Amino acid sequence: MSRLDMLGAITEVPGQLTRRYLSPAHIESMRRTEAWMIEAGMSVRTDPLFSLFGRYEGKTPGRAAIMIGSHLDTVVDAGRYDGGLGVLAAIAVVAELARTAERLDHAVEVAAFGEEEGSRFPTHILTSSALIGAVKPALLDAKDTSGMTVREALAAAGGDAKGYRACVRDKGELAAYLELHIEQGPVLEAKGLALGAVTAINGSVRSMVTVSGFAGHAGTVPMGARRDALTAASEMMLDVERVAAAERDLVATVGRVKVLPGATNVIPGRVEFTIDMRGPVDAVRRRTHTALLADLRRIAKQRGVGIAIDTFQENPAVALDAGIADAVGEAIAACGHEPFRLPSGAGHDAGIMAKHCPSGMIFLRCKDGISHNPAESITVADADLGVRALLAAVHGLDRRLGWRGMGSDPSRQVIDHRRRSRRGV
Ligand code: GLV
Ligand code: MN
Ligand code: MN
Repeated sequence: MSRLDMLGAITEVPGQLTRRYLSPAHIESMRRTEAWMIEAGMSVRTDPLFSLFGRYEGKTPGRAAIMIGSHLDTVVDAGRYDGGLGVLAAIAVVAELARTAERLDHAVEVAAFGEEEGSRFPTHILTSSALIGAVKPALLDAKDTSGMTVREALAAAGGDAKGYRACVRDKGELAAYLELHIEQGPVLEAKGLALGAVTAINGSVRSMVTVSGFAGHAGTVPMGARRDALTAASEMMLDVERVAAAERDLVATVGRVKVLPGATNVIPGRVEFTIDMRGPVDAVRRRTHTALLADLRRIAKQRGVGIAIDTFQENPAVALDAGIADAVGEAIAACGHEPFRLPSGAGHDAGIMAKHCPSGMIFLRCKDGISHNPAESITVADADLGVRALLAAVHGLDRRLGWRGMGSDPSRQVIDHRRRSRRGV
């Protein structure tokens, strides 16, 4: 918990926690985390897109790893547990293995990913995507609000985007991925439970809408003669809310708005705003998103403004591995708690990793379900339990992810599904 406080103090903006990908604060948080990894007995390396990895070898060096971890970047004005908890809990797990000189059949790797949030570039879940080979070169030309590309930011941080293909890990290198994360929602707290095994991650789509009106004098242009980009955009934003509220389990958010030229006495000529829409059923989300965009175009036409819509990222809903959820449920039960299961409304690196290797998550209760807010809070007792459950799950996976024979070929590794339990909800 004190390390989470230390990490939470590494920020771009004094007085709040803002640690966007490749900012000096993000790099500093990587260096601090790297030192803790080394202290815990790991060898460390940073990949070309600035994911940081610590490795603790198993009984046979070089074998496939159980990867545990989360991300170090944050949203703007963040809480200190989103991402940081999963990275530091993973280091605590390895530190405990090292303290007892225990070596598993698998290596354990701790991952500290970057730009999970997409709070700097429109490239949410970037560095885990690079690990699985899902990054296209064009994504590295994405720009932050100052116009700097990922490539330029990497170069400024001492990296080189050209090496991005070297981020890709062979499937056989990773036996499983498991992420401990705060729930970021109210379900566990309402049920009086500290932990839950995550079954699935909602799908999401992100769009940028640009509304073009005509800038003019705020004092001279009569109300009926205006093409105000902001009043048109306001009607569109209310439509985003209405459309999402009409569908069960669907949510949509306008989180960023830019009004140009942004002067008190000028009618807004241009507005840019983002839409983030999520839901558990891809077909419903896609249908609703398509209908919403048609609505926005209709509003633009009625108001005589132009509209351009760029849908820049879409992630389908992901079912996490049932065997890993079982192992997590068993680990929670072994810690004396009910092995409750729940889906995730938030996106996570685990949703990307699930395309590469069996992946799962443990959710930990957070106060009032608050997240993406400096008021994010967890208790010491829950954090302690979270680390214990993560360690127990790593032990369980090490047993469950058996090896066929004694060869060291990682591709021969399989999940032993016969050992799945039926426990849990
Ligand atoms: C990450 O926190 C996301 O779900 O946006
Ligand atoms: Mn997160
Ligand atoms: Mn987040």
